[in-house]
Amino acid sequence: MEYEIGGLILALLLWAAWKIATASGQRQLKEVGRLPPGPTPWPVVGNIFQLGLGAPHESFVKLAKKHGPVMTIWLGSMNTVVISSNEAARVMFKNHDVVLAGRKIYEAMKGDYGNEGSLITAQYGQHWRMLRRLCTTEFFTTSRLDTMRVVRRQCIDQMVQFIHESGESGTTAIDIRRFFFLMAFNLMGNLIFSKDLLDPKSERGSEFFFHAGKVMEFAGKANVADFFPILRRLDPQGIRRKTQFHVNHAFDIVGEFLQERLRTMENDCIQKKIRDYLDVLLEYRGDGTEGPCIFGPRTINVIIFEMFTAGTDTTTSTLEWAMAELLHNPATLQKVQAELRTLTDGGEKIEEENLNKLPYLNAVIKETLRLHPPLPFLVPHMAMDSCKMFGYFIPEETQILVNVWAIGRDPKTWKDPLEFKPERFLEPNMVDYKGQHFEFIPFGSGRRMCPAVPLVARVLPLALGSILHSLDWVLANGLKAEEMDMSERMGITLRKAIPLKAIPVPYKG
Ligand code: HEM
Repeated sequence: MEYEIGGLILALLLWAAWKIATASGQRQLKEVGRLPPGPTPWPVVGNIFQLGLGAPHESFVKLAKKHGPVMTIWLGSMNTVVISSNEAARVMFKNHDVVLAGRKIYEAMKGDYGNEGSLITAQYGQHWRMLRRLCTTEFFTTSRLDTMRVVRRQCIDQMVQFIHESGESGTTAIDIRRFFFLMAFNLMGNLIFSKDLLDPKSERGSEFFFHAGKVMEFAGKANVADFFPILRRLDPQGIRRKTQFHVNHAFDIVGEFLQERLRTMENDCIQKKIRDYLDVLLEYRGDGTEGPCIFGPRTINVIIFEMFTAGTDTTTSTLEWAMAELLHNPATLQKVQAELRTLTDGGEKIEEENLNKLPYLNAVIKETLRLHPPLPFLVPHMAMDSCKMFGYFIPEETQILVNVWAIGRDPKTWKDPLEFKPERFLEPNMVDYKGQHFEFIPFGSGRRMCPAVPLVARVLPLALGSILHSLDWVLANGLKAEEMDMSERMGITLRKAIPLKAIPVPYKG
């Protein structure tokens, strides 16, 4: 009985929330124009049940076939516009980039102390611009990346060594994703703190790893409080509370690392060879003038935490999909290994300086990002003001999702779109992911595009090339290439549903 009354009250609350939200939307609509077309929403829940929450990117494709490449979807009372073609993406980024450069902030992303210091969740404006400048003029410049080459080399070498050790006899299957994650996580740790966080000697490192992993897990869950603002205070699934719990623990650990660094700076007792990101943050003044650092400890904490969350899962997921596609397409695997082994001519390693001599390896990375963009909708954008796009009215605060997964598989653009064919990225095509070719935008485009592309463009091919160069790979349990399960699972990134298990066999040359 109690449950029934509770259910009734909840249903009434949801209905009231929906009425209020849609009434104001409809009022605006009458005043100014037509929303993009879309499936008819049900009362209260909108189009949620038409989506199938497990694979919304696929459901959006089916709906877009009927309603078009600029489509309205109601997620509860949250008005969302889904962009599903390269032409629509081009118009969005070329003509409406500024007004659509806001961020829709989900409940799990809302910090207890506001979002100060967060680049990902900052609304487009002065604070965002300052944080973005930190990335483009300090973190990801060619000279900084060149100086830190040795750090990337070291983390990738360590991954290769761990793989050799774990599958020593050439018969033991490994979960490749774990090794990629370890590499990506330690890479961030070394870029920021000059530390291997995942090291048996670093207890705090593995605690940080645990809490950061939990934050990513909760941030990837569908949360009803996002769809029904009236439920925000109740936090019915506890997602906000749980996320904050882990964020706070992770922040405490970063705070300890920060204090340690400040002490060593005072005592000047450690001679580090390379200036790391923490040094940059502690000395950053924003405009190049002399003066005290402009960031407080809290902001530094947020920036660091964000680097880990933005950089680890995306990198891991891309590398796991690349390996999965190569094992699923043995001829392509042979071709890329032949390119790598011919280049080094019996030498030990792939070097970063040689990446531009490996067109097929680079094409494999691009083809992986085309079929498996880790963030299939980019990071949700938001209209900061109302605007007109394609003659439709886009109200202020509309969430904008760009379905780059669908755009990358659009048969109008791509021949045999579902086939893994890196050849399509070889010259004279030269389609690139720098945000100018709208048929292929796994990092986005325009102002909010991923700032770490220059780093990622070095790490992905070097990591993949290194494990393909010194090892051969065999699927676990005698599985045949054509029997592999290539299904996807939506979390914070779109990862492989069944982890890839394969046996590394040392290559004798
Ligand atoms: C395969 C690897 C990666 C992919 C596919 C990727 C993709 C993306 C995408 C799609 C966005 C959102 C673009 C938009 O909203 O329009 C983004 C934003 C961002 N990425 Fe990446 N990313 C990767 C790696 C990284 C790494 C390694 C870092 C940091 C070390 C990073 C830092 C960020 C940040 C800070 C933003 C927010 C930018 C803003 O809101 O202005 N990403 N990334």
